[in-house]
Amino acid sequence: MTGVLRPVPDTSSSHENVLPAMSVIAREAGALLMDYFHQHLKIEYKGDADLVTAADRASEALIRERIRQQWPAHDILGEEQGLSDQGSDYRWYVDPLDGTTNFAHGYPVFCVSLGLERRTLENRSSGPGKRIAAVVYDPTRDELFSAEQGRGAQLNGETIHVSQTATLKECLLATGFPSHKRHKNPNIYFYHQITLHTHGVRRAGSAALDLCNVAAGRFDGFWEFNLNPWDTAAGVLIVEEAGGKVTRFDGAAFELNSRETVASNGLIHDALVQEFKDIFAGRGLEALPDPRVYKR
Ligand code: IPD
Ligand code: CA
Ligand code: CA
Repeated sequence: MTGVLRPVPDTSSSHENVLPAMSVIAREAGALLMDYFHQHLKIEYKGDADLVTAADRASEALIRERIRQQWPAHDILGEEQGLSDQGSDYRWYVDPLDGTTNFAHGYPVFCVSLGLERRTLENRSSGPGKRIAAVVYDPTRDELFSAEQGRGAQLNGETIHVSQTATLKECLLATGFPSHKRHKNPNIYFYHQITLHTHGVRRAGSAALDLCNVAAGRFDGFWEFNLNPWDTAAGVLIVEEAGGKVTRFDGAAFELNSRETVASNGLIHDALVQEFKDIFAGRGLEALPDPRVYKR
Protein backbone atom coordinates (compact mmCIF):
# COMPACT_ATOMS: atom_id res chain seq x y z
CA MET A 1 0.00 0.00 0.00
CA THR A 2 2.85 2.36 0.79
CA GLY A 3 4.18 2.10 -2.79
CA VAL A 4 1.37 4.30 -4.14
CA LEU A 5 1.93 7.16 -1.70
CA ARG A 6 3.65 10.24 -2.97
CA PRO A 7 6.76 11.24 -0.99
CA VAL A 8 7.18 14.76 0.38
CA PRO A 9 10.26 16.20 -1.33
CA ASP A 10 12.63 17.49 1.34
CA THR A 11 13.17 20.78 -0.45
CA SER A 12 9.55 21.43 -1.38
CA SER A 13 7.43 24.04 0.38
CA SER A 14 4.42 21.77 -0.02
CA HIS A 15 3.42 19.17 2.53
CA GLU A 16 0.18 18.25 0.85
CA ASN A 17 -0.67 14.57 0.71
CA VAL A 18 1.38 13.72 3.75
CA LEU A 19 -1.64 13.05 5.98
CA PRO A 20 -2.99 9.99 4.11
CA ALA A 21 0.48 8.43 4.19
CA MET A 22 0.94 9.23 7.88
CA SER A 23 -2.46 7.71 8.61
CA VAL A 24 -1.55 4.50 6.81
CA ILE A 25 1.64 4.23 8.88
CA ALA A 26 -0.16 4.92 12.17
CA ARG A 27 -2.85 2.36 11.38
CA GLU A 28 -0.25 -0.24 10.46
CA ALA A 29 1.65 0.39 13.71
CA GLY A 30 -1.65 0.30 15.63
CA ALA A 31 -2.50 -3.10 14.13
CA LEU A 32 0.92 -4.36 15.17
CA LEU A 33 0.30 -3.13 18.74
CA MET A 34 -3.03 -4.96 18.84
CA ASP A 35 -1.28 -8.17 17.73
CA TYR A 36 0.95 -7.88 20.76
CA PHE A 37 -1.75 -6.64 23.13
CA HIS A 38 -3.26 -9.95 24.12
CA GLN A 39 0.00 -11.84 24.20
CA HIS A 40 1.89 -12.22 27.41
CA LEU A 41 4.63 -9.63 27.08
CA LYS A 42 7.96 -9.51 28.70
CA ILE A 43 8.03 -6.17 30.50
CA GLU A 44 11.37 -4.46 30.94
CA TYR A 45 12.16 -1.45 33.08
CA LYS A 46 13.96 1.55 31.63
CA GLY A 47 14.06 3.37 34.95
CA ASP A 48 12.20 3.10 38.26
CA ALA A 49 8.84 2.32 36.75
CA ASP A 50 9.24 3.28 33.11
CA LEU A 51 8.01 0.14 31.41
CA VAL A 52 9.03 -0.80 27.93
CA THR A 53 7.70 -3.71 25.97
CA ALA A 54 8.70 -5.54 22.80
CA ALA A 55 5.71 -3.82 21.22
CA ASP A 56 7.18 -0.32 21.74
CA ARG A 57 10.34 -1.38 19.92
CA ALA A 58 8.63 -3.27 17.12
CA SER A 59 6.22 -0.39 16.51
CA GLU A 60 9.01 2.16 16.30
CA ALA A 61 11.06 -0.07 13.97
CA LEU A 62 8.06 -0.40 11.66
CA ILE A 63 7.31 3.34 11.69
CA ARG A 64 10.95 4.22 10.99
CA GLU A 65 11.07 1.76 8.11
CA ARG A 66 7.92 3.25 6.57
CA ILE A 67 9.19 6.82 6.95
CA ARG A 68 12.58 5.84 5.45
CA GLN A 69 10.88 4.18 2.48
CA GLN A 70 8.90 7.29 1.61
CA TRP A 71 10.97 10.19 2.92
CA PRO A 72 14.54 8.94 3.15
CA ALA A 73 16.00 12.38 3.84
CA HIS A 74 13.75 13.28 6.78
CA ASP A 75 15.01 13.40 10.38
CA ILE A 76 13.29 11.21 12.96
CA LEU A 77 13.13 11.59 16.72
CA GLY A 78 11.59 8.47 18.25
CA GLU A 79 11.20 7.60 21.90
CA GLU A 80 12.94 4.22 21.67
CA GLN A 81 15.75 4.88 19.18
CA GLY A 82 16.42 8.58 19.67
CA LEU A 83 17.31 11.06 16.94
CA SER A 84 18.43 10.27 13.39
CA ASP A 85 19.61 13.69 12.29
CA GLN A 86 20.37 14.06 8.60
CA GLY A 87 20.11 17.84 8.56
CA SER A 88 16.67 17.77 6.93
CA ASP A 89 14.10 20.59 7.06
CA TYR A 90 11.59 17.97 8.19
CA ARG A 91 11.55 16.19 11.52
CA TRP A 92 9.22 13.40 12.63
CA TYR A 93 8.33 12.96 16.29
CA VAL A 94 7.41 9.35 16.93
CA ASP A 95 5.82 7.87 20.00
CA PRO A 96 5.36 4.27 18.84
CA LEU A 97 3.21 3.40 21.86
CA ASP A 98 1.88 6.15 24.10
CA GLY A 99 0.40 4.52 27.16
CA THR A 100 2.92 1.71 27.66
CA THR A 101 2.00 1.18 31.31
CA ASN A 102 -1.67 0.72 30.38
CA PHE A 103 -0.67 -1.57 27.52
CA ALA A 104 1.60 -3.70 29.70
CA HIS A 105 -1.19 -4.16 32.27
CA GLY A 106 -3.84 -5.01 29.69
CA TYR A 107 -5.71 -1.70 30.14
CA PRO A 108 -6.87 -0.70 26.65
CA VAL A 109 -5.94 3.00 26.54
CA PHE A 110 -2.94 3.60 24.28
CA CYS A 111 -2.10 4.92 20.85
CA VAL A 112 0.49 5.64 18.17
CA SER A 113 1.50 9.29 17.82
CA LEU A 114 3.22 10.82 14.77
CA GLY A 115 3.98 14.51 14.43
CA LEU A 116 5.78 16.20 11.54
CA GLU A 117 7.61 19.50 11.89
CA ARG A 118 9.18 21.65 9.22
CA ARG A 119 11.91 24.18 9.60
CA THR A 120 11.96 27.12 7.22
CA LEU A 121 14.53 29.86 6.80
CA GLU A 122 12.34 32.17 8.94
CA ASN A 123 11.72 29.82 11.84
CA ARG A 124 15.18 28.17 11.79
CA SER A 125 16.77 31.23 13.37
CA SER A 126 13.97 31.63 15.92
CA GLY A 127 14.24 28.06 17.27
CA PRO A 128 12.09 25.04 16.56
CA GLY A 129 10.20 24.32 13.39
CA LYS A 130 6.51 24.60 12.64
CA ARG A 131 4.24 21.68 13.36
CA ILE A 132 2.69 20.89 10.01
CA ALA A 133 0.94 17.53 10.27
CA ALA A 134 -0.14 15.11 12.97
CA VAL A 135 -1.80 11.74 13.40
CA VAL A 136 -2.75 9.94 16.62
CA TYR A 137 -4.27 6.49 16.22
CA ASP A 138 -6.08 4.61 18.98
CA PRO A 139 -6.29 1.02 17.72
CA THR A 140 -8.52 -0.12 20.59
CA ARG A 141 -11.36 2.14 19.42
CA ASP A 142 -10.28 2.48 15.80
CA GLU A 143 -10.10 6.24 16.23
CA LEU A 144 -7.73 8.18 14.04
CA PHE A 145 -7.20 11.83 14.96
CA SER A 146 -5.43 13.98 12.41
CA ALA A 147 -4.59 17.57 11.61
CA GLU A 148 -2.70 19.62 9.10
CA GLN A 149 -1.57 23.11 9.89
CA GLY A 150 -4.23 25.59 8.77
CA ARG A 151 -6.68 22.88 7.71
CA GLY A 152 -8.51 21.90 10.87
CA ALA A 153 -8.60 18.64 12.80
CA GLN A 154 -10.49 15.43 12.12
CA LEU A 155 -11.54 12.24 13.84
CA ASN A 156 -11.91 9.41 11.34
CA GLY A 157 -12.24 12.03 8.61
CA GLU A 158 -14.96 14.11 10.35
CA THR A 159 -14.10 17.63 11.49
CA ILE A 160 -13.74 18.00 15.26
CA HIS A 161 -13.90 21.05 17.51
CA VAL A 162 -12.97 21.76 21.10
CA SER A 163 -15.79 22.13 23.64
CA GLN A 164 -17.78 25.30 24.34
CA THR A 165 -17.56 25.09 28.15
CA ALA A 166 -16.81 28.60 29.37
CA THR A 167 -16.44 28.24 33.13
CA LEU A 168 -13.89 26.19 34.98
CA LYS A 169 -16.39 24.82 37.45
CA GLU A 170 -18.25 23.07 34.63
CA CYS A 171 -15.15 21.50 33.11
CA LEU A 172 -13.94 17.93 32.85
CA LEU A 173 -10.15 17.96 32.68
CA ALA A 174 -7.32 15.45 32.35
CA THR A 175 -3.78 15.18 33.59
CA GLY A 176 -0.95 12.68 33.84
CA PHE A 177 1.81 11.82 36.27
CA PRO A 178 5.34 11.09 35.09
CA SER A 179 6.94 7.69 35.46
CA HIS A 180 10.34 9.23 36.32
CA LYS A 181 11.18 10.94 39.62
CA ARG A 182 7.57 10.88 40.79
CA HIS A 183 8.60 11.85 44.30
CA LYS A 184 9.82 15.20 42.92
CA ASN A 185 6.63 16.04 41.07
CA PRO A 186 4.13 18.44 42.69
CA ASN A 187 1.24 17.49 40.41
CA ILE A 188 -0.78 15.92 43.21
CA TYR A 189 -1.43 19.45 44.54
CA PHE A 190 -2.61 20.59 41.12
CA TYR A 191 -4.74 17.47 40.83
CA HIS A 192 -6.29 18.10 44.24
CA GLN A 193 -6.98 21.82 43.78
CA ILE A 194 -8.28 21.56 40.25
CA THR A 195 -10.45 18.56 41.15
CA LEU A 196 -12.11 20.69 43.82
CA HIS A 197 -12.76 23.52 41.35
CA THR A 198 -14.16 21.49 38.41
CA HIS A 199 -16.35 18.49 37.54
CA GLY A 200 -13.23 16.37 37.91
CA VAL A 201 -9.85 15.39 36.56
CA ARG A 202 -9.20 12.13 34.69
CA ARG A 203 -5.83 10.38 34.62
CA ALA A 204 -6.04 7.93 31.74
CA GLY A 205 -2.35 7.25 31.03
CA SER A 206 -1.85 8.44 27.45
CA ALA A 207 -0.93 12.09 27.02
CA ALA A 208 -1.38 11.99 23.24
CA LEU A 209 -4.94 10.68 23.64
CA ASP A 210 -5.64 13.20 26.42
CA LEU A 211 -4.75 15.98 23.98
CA CYS A 212 -6.92 14.45 21.24
CA ASN A 213 -9.81 14.20 23.69
CA VAL A 214 -9.46 17.94 24.31
CA ALA A 215 -9.52 18.46 20.53
CA ALA A 216 -12.69 16.35 20.26
CA GLY A 217 -14.43 18.29 23.05
CA ARG A 218 -14.55 15.28 25.40
CA PHE A 219 -12.23 17.03 27.85
CA ASP A 220 -12.24 20.79 28.29
CA GLY A 221 -8.56 20.88 29.18
CA PHE A 222 -5.43 18.91 30.03
CA TRP A 223 -2.10 19.60 31.69
CA GLU A 224 1.02 17.67 32.49
CA PHE A 225 4.55 18.29 33.77
CA ASN A 226 7.65 17.02 31.96
CA LEU A 227 6.22 15.57 28.81
CA ASN A 228 8.63 14.78 25.99
CA PRO A 229 8.37 16.13 22.42
CA TRP A 230 7.16 12.75 21.11
CA ASP A 231 4.27 12.83 23.61
CA THR A 232 3.01 16.23 22.53
CA ALA A 233 4.12 16.97 18.93
CA ALA A 234 1.04 15.48 17.30
CA GLY A 235 -1.59 16.16 19.97
CA VAL A 236 -0.74 19.85 20.31
CA LEU A 237 -1.30 20.51 16.59
CA ILE A 238 -4.56 18.53 16.72
CA VAL A 239 -5.80 20.67 19.67
CA GLU A 240 -4.81 23.92 17.95
CA GLU A 241 -6.40 22.92 14.68
CA ALA A 242 -9.59 21.98 16.54
CA GLY A 243 -9.75 25.57 17.81
CA GLY A 244 -8.07 25.06 21.18
CA LYS A 245 -5.09 26.62 22.85
CA VAL A 246 -1.83 25.16 24.19
CA THR A 247 0.68 27.08 26.29
CA ARG A 248 3.17 26.70 29.10
CA PHE A 249 1.84 26.88 32.67
CA ASP A 250 2.27 30.68 32.80
CA GLY A 251 0.42 31.18 29.52
CA ALA A 252 3.61 31.71 27.46
CA ALA A 253 3.92 30.11 24.03
CA PHE A 254 4.20 26.32 24.07
CA GLU A 255 7.35 24.76 22.69
CA LEU A 256 8.07 21.08 22.26
CA ASN A 257 10.91 21.30 24.74
CA SER A 258 8.98 23.40 27.29
CA ARG A 259 8.25 20.40 29.52
CA GLU A 260 5.09 22.25 30.60
CA THR A 261 1.88 21.59 28.72
CA VAL A 262 -1.51 23.12 29.36
CA ALA A 263 -4.14 22.64 26.68
CA SER A 264 -7.74 23.80 26.66
CA ASN A 265 -10.73 24.79 24.59
CA GLY A 266 -9.40 28.38 24.76
CA LEU A 267 -12.43 29.68 26.66
CA ILE A 268 -11.21 28.46 30.05
CA HIS A 269 -7.51 28.93 29.35
CA ASP A 270 -7.00 32.11 31.37
CA ALA A 271 -8.86 30.63 34.33
CA LEU A 272 -6.72 27.49 34.18
CA VAL A 273 -3.50 29.47 33.95
CA GLN A 274 -4.71 31.54 36.94
CA GLU A 275 -5.18 28.28 38.90
CA PHE A 276 -1.56 27.43 38.11
CA LYS A 277 -0.39 30.87 39.29
CA ASP A 278 -2.32 30.49 42.53
CA ILE A 279 -1.12 26.95 43.19
CA PHE A 280 2.53 27.79 42.44
CA ALA A 281 2.18 30.76 44.83
CA GLY A 282 0.52 28.54 47.46
CA ARG A 283 -2.62 30.75 47.40
CA GLY A 284 -5.88 29.14 48.51
CA LEU A 285 -4.39 25.66 48.84
CA GLU A 286 -6.89 23.31 50.44
CA ALA A 287 -5.16 20.95 52.85
CA LEU A 288 -5.33 17.29 51.82
CA PRO A 289 -7.69 15.55 54.25
CA ASP A 290 -5.76 13.63 56.91
CA PRO A 291 -6.46 9.88 56.48
CA ARG A 292 -5.89 9.27 60.20
CA VAL A 293 -8.67 11.72 61.03
CA TYR A 294 -10.94 10.12 58.40
CA LYS A 295 -10.31 6.66 59.87
CA ARG A 296 -11.43 7.69 63.33
C1 IPD B 1 3.48 8.35 29.00
C2 IPD B 1 2.00 8.63 28.85
C3 IPD B 1 1.40 9.06 30.16
C4 IPD B 1 2.10 10.25 30.75
C5 IPD B 1 3.59 9.97 30.89
C6 IPD B 1 4.17 9.56 29.53
P1 IPD B 1 4.60 6.48 27.43
O1 IPD B 1 4.07 7.99 27.77
O2 IPD B 1 1.78 9.64 27.90
O3 IPD B 1 0.04 9.43 30.02
O4 IPD B 1 1.54 10.53 32.01
O5 IPD B 1 4.20 11.16 31.35
O6 IPD B 1 5.56 9.27 29.70
O7 IPD B 1 5.80 6.25 28.31
O8 IPD B 1 3.49 5.54 27.72
O9 IPD B 1 4.94 6.59 25.99
CA1 CA C 1 4.54 8.83 25.53
CA1 CA D 1 6.00 5.57 24.35
